[in-house]
Amino acid sequence: MNIALIGCGNIASIIARKARNVRIVAVYDADEQRKNTFAAQVGAHASPDLASLLEEDVALVVEAASPSAVRQTAQHVIKAGKDLMVMSVGGLVDPVFRSQLIGLAREHNHRIYIPSGAIGGLDAISAARVGRIDSITLETRKPPGSLGLTVASETVVFEGTPQEAIARYPRNINVAVTLSIIGGDDRVRVTIIADPATRNNTHRITVRGEVGTLTFEFANEPSPNQATSLLAGYSAVALLERIAQPLHF
Ligand SMILES: NC(=O)c1ccc[n+]([C@@H]2O[C@H](COP(=O)([O-])OP(=O)(O)OC[C@H]3O[C@@H](n4cnc5c(N)ncnc54)[C@H](O)[C@@H]3O)[C@@H](O)[C@H]2O)c1
Repeated sequence: MNIALIGCGNIASIIARKARNVRIVAVYDADEQRKNTFAAQVGAHASPDLASLLEEDVALVVEAASPSAVRQTAQHVIKAGKDLMVMSVGGLVDPVFRSQLIGLAREHNHRIYIPSGAIGGLDAISAARVGRIDSITLETRKPPGSLGLTVASETVVFEGTPQEAIARYPRNINVAVTLSIIGGDDRVRVTIIADPATRNNTHRITVRGEVGTLTFEFANEPSPNQATSLLAGYSAVALLERIAQPLHF
């Protein structure tokens, strides 16, 4: 499967290193030098702009850049006749923008893929949503530096909705938006804890509803940029492999 990448950072590097059944044909990044270096490393075309990237013969465009890149590019990708994979799920936090994008994808008969990212259990949560979901809580614990903070001891730095969380920490709390998309926008409450004693990004999720109580905990190792969980990069690779293969689970 031929793909193009928007964003040539940490997740793009993991995809380039680990994905076996995809070929990176073209890449785009707002940082010119990073784009050219990455393109040379992976043998891809460095597109001068988004319009040129979308003229490439690819089935799927992977966004691995930023929430603002999602808002700037997602509709163009679908209109150009490509499927889209969104890593910066925070860019889909606005339900109006999201439903317009889904409508566009339906109209053009294309798909929008969201990798499980730094968490998992989305299969069980979507099954639970067939019935009644009462609440979903997400407690995220991170090293203070990855939140851009300095604190002496464990500190609750945020409590609120995914919308409020992504507005405060746009690079850090994509998983809250993934949960609200799959579990219902009004169901999710988020707590973020800055903890100097940890080097992992830990997400503890509790879903309560008709099916019972589901609990998940992910104590993620960081990837080389320290902010992104290694699991998030690997989830993009795993999803690409699934799309490229006939076996789906
Ligand atoms: N879904 C999840 O669970 C999850 C987990 C971790 C990270 N993420 C998100 O995935 C994205 C990529 O993560 P990463 O670790 O590779 O980040 P990174 O900082 O290593 O790389 C991002 C790259 O995108 C480029 N970029 C940013 N905005 C751009 C724009 N508007 N147009 C073009 N290029 C742009 C930057 O120059 C940079 O090279 C981030 O938004 C991050 O928050 C999602």
